[in-house]
Amino acid sequence: MIKKCLFPVAGYGTRFLPATKAMPKEILPVVNKPLVQYGVEEAAEAGIHEFGFVTGRGKRAIEDHFDISYELEHQIAGSGKENLLTSIRDLIDHNTFAFTRQVEMKGLGHAILSGRNLIGDNPFAVVLADDFCVGPGEGEDGVLAQMVKLYNQFRCSIVAIEEVPADETHKYGVIAGESMKDGLYRITDMVEKPTPENAPSNLAIIGRYILTPDIFDILERTPAGKNGEIQITDALLEQAKNGCVLAYQFKGRRFDCGSIDGFVEATNYVYENIYKKSK
Ligand code: G1P
Repeated sequence: MIKKCLFPVAGYGTRFLPATKAMPKEILPVVNKPLVQYGVEEAAEAGIHEFGFVTGRGKRAIEDHFDISYELEHQIAGSGKENLLTSIRDLIDHNTFAFTRQVEMKGLGHAILSGRNLIGDNPFAVVLADDFCVGPGEGEDGVLAQMVKLYNQFRCSIVAIEEVPADETHKYGVIAGESMKDGLYRITDMVEKPTPENAPSNLAIIGRYILTPDIFDILERTPAGKNGEIQITDALLEQAKNGCVLAYQFKGRRFDCGSIDGFVEATNYVYENIYKKSK
């Protein structure tokens, strides 16, 4: 069972300055909901109810978002606007949220290792909130729910992947693998942010992972890699060489909300397909 999900949310969000000067990028709204809440809802839909956040300086608003605001609830009681708080209040009532800080920015692998105390000796999911994912259709599993089902079958670390154009491999971890069945690969190689010439394929890792807890000991001894940072890609490659790591071409769609273009696309998608339909 995957019971816990880790959100590394310490990053600065420089691409969105000045919007992110005093506000975490994860709190930027996609229509009327902060980006990070979509990620939490996706994980909750996958049966996960314990959330850990690896935060940093200037990220207090994330903690406040996943806490009750008695003052606000009191203010709007009886005004007919209570339903606007229902989605977040439901999450607060049915899940737990824990926070720790990454005190130095030393890469995604380091961020995940910083969350070790929140996870313990359990397999866990990782969601990078920047990657906003939607499932293939109404009533169908979201991306993390698809991955949890696979974990229950194979019991090893899994990364979500999608095809990217050759000129975009430098933005992602890129895998090589042996095809096991449609859309599922056993990883044989992974390279963090390769140039097109060095990319082992066009299959890029996106921000959804399921990790077995032995990843923490591996991360402890993983040296700094690409850009001088401790890379989860390098730790996963060691896991893959000693055992098995799967790459899963998920069903659904992903928006790169770490970029302005992707953020605007996600906003338009949510407005047309979720917000308007909920009215
Ligand atoms: C991180 C990972 C990379 C992965 C990407 C997915 O990179 O290091 O392997 O493909 O997330 O979003 P970042 O986007 O943090 O630079």
